[in-house]
Amino acid sequence: MALAKRGLGKGGPEVSALGLGCMGMSEFYGHSDREAALATIAAALEAGVTLLDTGDFYGMGHNEMLLAEALRGKRDQAFIQVKFGAQRGPDGAFLGIDARPASVKTALAYSLRRLGTDHVDLYQTGLDPAVPIEDTIGAIGDLVQQGYVRHVGITNVDANTIRRAHGTQPITALQFEYGLMSRDIEHEILPLCRELGIGITAYGVLSRGLLTGSKGSGEGDFRNVLYPRFQGENLTRNERLAAALAKVAQSEGITAAQAAIAWVASRGADIIPLVGARTVERLTEALRSPLHLSKEALSEIERAVPENAVSGERFMVAH
Ligand SMILES: NC(=O)c1ccc[n+]([C@@H]2O[C@H](COP(=O)([O-])OP(=O)(O)OC[C@H]3O[C@@H](n4cnc5c(N)ncnc54)[C@H](OP(=O)(O)O)[C@@H]3O)[C@@H](O)[C@H]2O)c1
Repeated sequence: MALAKRGLGKGGPEVSALGLGCMGMSEFYGHSDREAALATIAAALEAGVTLLDTGDFYGMGHNEMLLAEALRGKRDQAFIQVKFGAQRGPDGAFLGIDARPASVKTALAYSLRRLGTDHVDLYQTGLDPAVPIEDTIGAIGDLVQQGYVRHVGITNVDANTIRRAHGTQPITALQFEYGLMSRDIEHEILPLCRELGIGITAYGVLSRGLLTGSKGSGEGDFRNVLYPRFQGENLTRNERLAAALAKVAQSEGITAAQAAIAWVASRGADIIPLVGARTVERLTEALRSPLHLSKEALSEIERAVPENAVSGERFMVAH
């Protein structure tokens, strides 16, 4: 069966109802197998997943080059969204955000080269505290005018910044953490996006694996280094929530990952869950998430992982 589609923002492009987040294929979540990653992207396209999320700083260009390889001869099947702005040193250090207009255009030029394409479908920025958001968005607007970027996106910003950005150039989508363990968006930002017709691409739907028993271990896995929710007592408490979710999911005949994905998808037709699958098995599991869960099942899921029950902050270092 073909994967359902959802509009990204009011009057925006149609994309698959589930997006594939490619970050973990290059960095942050420990070792990732290159062949498995390429097979995952191929299987996603085959299944009708069009929305592929990447960032120029994911593996410092590695993730974009991986996508380029996976998309050779298939570019027209994908809606590529790229995050930029995070500065990295050769040792991988995080050096802050640079979203000055000239930097925006330079970053896009390099991304196009690495991706092997003449345009990206959505180009998304965070906030550079040293640059008025109007300047950054204006620069992306120039790239839209020139045909190098199709749609403007924004990520991890507050309501005021969203309003200012949207007043400069229509914003198609906001990328924000949204899942059973991260519901802050619901209070102010989600209603604002609905008022302005901005779609949401949700990351952290599986809480970076916390909801599914992927703890983070080994070299290059940042989860138990950067994310307090994966550490010490927090981890023990959060694992209890994950176990409760697994139990409810089992009673519905689905997995914890499928319950978490279905819950996010149920929050509105304007929300596209991104999942960080990096094997065909994980992807297949995610794609089999039920499109609709009963009200009772959704309530049970929320009882298993109540709002604000999670222990620990989301991260120590933003990326
Ligand atoms: N804008 C931002 O600031 C931001 C931040 C983070 C991520 N993102 C984007 O969002 C995407 C999703 O990443 P995320 O951090 O939000 O990850 P996530 O989907 O919440 O968690 C991914 C992890 O969950 C585990 N998992 C268990 N079952 C799975 C299944 N069926 N399908 C997929 N994963 C399963 C995997 O752990 P194992 O592989 O270890 O088993 C996987 O690494 C990223 O790739 C990136 O594109 C954006």
